[in-house]
Amino acid sequence: MEEARKPESVGIKPLLRVLEGTREKTPPIWMMRQAGRYLPEYRAVREKAGGFLDLCFNPELAAEVTLQPVRRFGFDAAILFSDILVIPLALGRKVEFQVGEGPKLEPLTDAAALDSLREHIDGKVLAPVYETVARVKSALDKKTTLIGFCGAPWTVATYMVAGEATPDQAPARLFAYRDPAGFGRLIDRLVQGSIEYLVGQLKAGAECVQIFDTWAGVLGPDQFERWCIQPTQKIVAGVREQVPNAKVIGFPRGVQAMALPYVQMTGVNGIGIDWTFEREIARDILQPRTAVQGNVDPLSLLAGGAALDREVDDVLAKLSGGPLIFNLGHGILPATPIAHVERMLKRVRG
Ligand code: CP3
Repeated sequence: MEEARKPESVGIKPLLRVLEGTREKTPPIWMMRQAGRYLPEYRAVREKAGGFLDLCFNPELAAEVTLQPVRRFGFDAAILFSDILVIPLALGRKVEFQVGEGPKLEPLTDAAALDSLREHIDGKVLAPVYETVARVKSALDKKTTLIGFCGAPWTVATYMVAGEATPDQAPARLFAYRDPAGFGRLIDRLVQGSIEYLVGQLKAGAECVQIFDTWAGVLGPDQFERWCIQPTQKIVAGVREQVPNAKVIGFPRGVQAMALPYVQMTGVNGIGIDWTFEREIARDILQPRTAVQGNVDPLSLLAGGAALDREVDDVLAKLSGGPLIFNLGHGILPATPIAHVERMLKRVRG
């Protein structure tokens, strides 16, 4: 019988160590949306690639933009360059990104439209993403962790139902109130697709995965339990059935008191918190149970100077006594000066 053992890489990769529950003297650091428009080298590749999805599905260029921020800043993790909306695409929906307008999908307005969804994700659509993972993995040094990701079913469903970004996710919330069974079928399909997609990334070389639930915070506690916690729990369990001990970071953005049940019920190894989350509560309630990732306000990074220093110091003072992955509370904003990122890194690493 093969002995269960940790991959050797866990021992030397600070981010993976933190996900095992250890505290690092200098916390590992990366940034959500670290590959993106604030970097001139990203903008150059983006122009060459054509559309945003063309870039996501071009393994050579997607690997290049994944590696750019790691090369420039020496982050402890690379995050696969792709998007959460490749899953609706792989389930047979139309997805487009128009410059300056964000995503446009054909809205999924009733349960009948659910019948048009594929049973399983189309592996051909996602094959280039797995190739990107493999390319990045072979290019990384032995200390840098490769993070794969997907969108949480709830957040992906908000875009599928509305067909675009919405200020309040009302279309999906209404669908869920009016037809919980139908909405549940959509969520189940996304759970299955997400399991297949994350397993594909882990088998291609990702060392942990993050589940982005950007719009979790708009749901009341019961709805949050049903549409965020339960599906995430199924994804974590389903992935670990195929990849035992797979490491997962959950990011239920905007959640406060429900963060603890989220951690307890989903079984994630780490939880991403945004900047509105009380750091003392994260320290006292979450860190004894899981690694915490966050939570610098991206606007303080854009502002820079003393405001940024205060924010960085506060995260370190309150959270670096436990397992901490230093990060922002949400993605870096495109207008952020590179010098501010350098300043933040210097302050964290000394
Ligand atoms: O973090 C990284 O560097 C990895 C790549 C990544 C992207 N999107 C690239 C991207 C990741 C992890 C995502 C996740 C994602 N995508 C989320 C969840 C995280 C979050 O930010 O809340 C969501 C909600 C999406 C959907 C999405 N993709 C929207 C709403 C938009 C348009 C808004 C915008 O920022 O332009 C995108 C486009 C997108 N995804 C860009 C990038 C770099 C910008 C597109 C461009 O380069 O023109």
